[in-house]
Amino acid sequence: MLTPDQQALYQTEGYLVLPGFKSDAEVAALRQRALQIVEAFDADSHRAIFSTSDQARRAAGADFLTSAEGIQCFFEEEAFDEAGRLRQAKALSINKIGHAMHDLDPVFQRFSRGPALAALAGDLGLQQPQLWQSMYIFKQPGIGGEVKWHQDASFFDTTPSTVTGFWFALEDATQANGCLWVQPGGHRGPLRERFVREGDAVRMEALDATPWPDTRSAVPVEVAAGTLVCFQGLLPHWSAPNRSDRSRHAYTLHATDGRADYAAHNWLQRSALPLRGFC
Ligand code: FE2
Repeated sequence: MLTPDQQALYQTEGYLVLPGFKSDAEVAALRQRALQIVEAFDADSHRAIFSTSDQARRAAGADFLTSAEGIQCFFEEEAFDEAGRLRQAKALSINKIGHAMHDLDPVFQRFSRGPALAALAGDLGLQQPQLWQSMYIFKQPGIGGEVKWHQDASFFDTTPSTVTGFWFALEDATQANGCLWVQPGGHRGPLRERFVREGDAVRMEALDATPWPDTRSAVPVEVAAGTLVCFQGLLPHWSAPNRSDRSRHAYTLHATDGRADYAAHNWLQRSALPLRGFC
């Protein structure tokens, strides 16, 4: 799947950009299915907000924890006005859908698995990939929230560190609509914090005081729809709020290697749904 040069680049930079990994038809099918899920979602009984700026407090809701083995919509932080009413249509207010569509929904399942992804995962070093999480991220026009600098390994702690992110652009991602930014080579730095679950409570725990990158050492990853960006779990990444009038839909998968120890304090655990790889 990958050339030796691509594999070397992934090891050096911590990420790899694969344009045209998904066809227009595959992207369109996933987008259509996501909109159907949002349409069917009862906004009045589930008001969970997703925010990375105050994650420990916001995330501890029951909707967040049960979404580990389900399909749940989360609102943008700025979706509601002071009176608690949606500022704009529901379809333009959702931050993301998570976190088990890849196992529960046939359209998402098709998009998330197959020989190309299985071969790619092997080339990236995942010998026994285990697919823990899927997220459909809307990055809504005008109110799409910032995702602060973080490392995915904070949320999927394994020994050794193996979590790998698969980030599919479902629309063109530019600096204007809040594309991904990464710190090339930053995966060689330490894990700065970890997200710890104790019972039904979650908190972020500081581990290392190494500062996050700034825009001098980071690069924007501006990509066309259909592009797949793969990155190592220790790679610091960030995305700006979307203040443009265009959305920036993306879909992500996170996989660890079954040969590594998966920490018992990770928020996402499986009890009912079996873990599978890309086949
Ligand atoms: Fe991330």
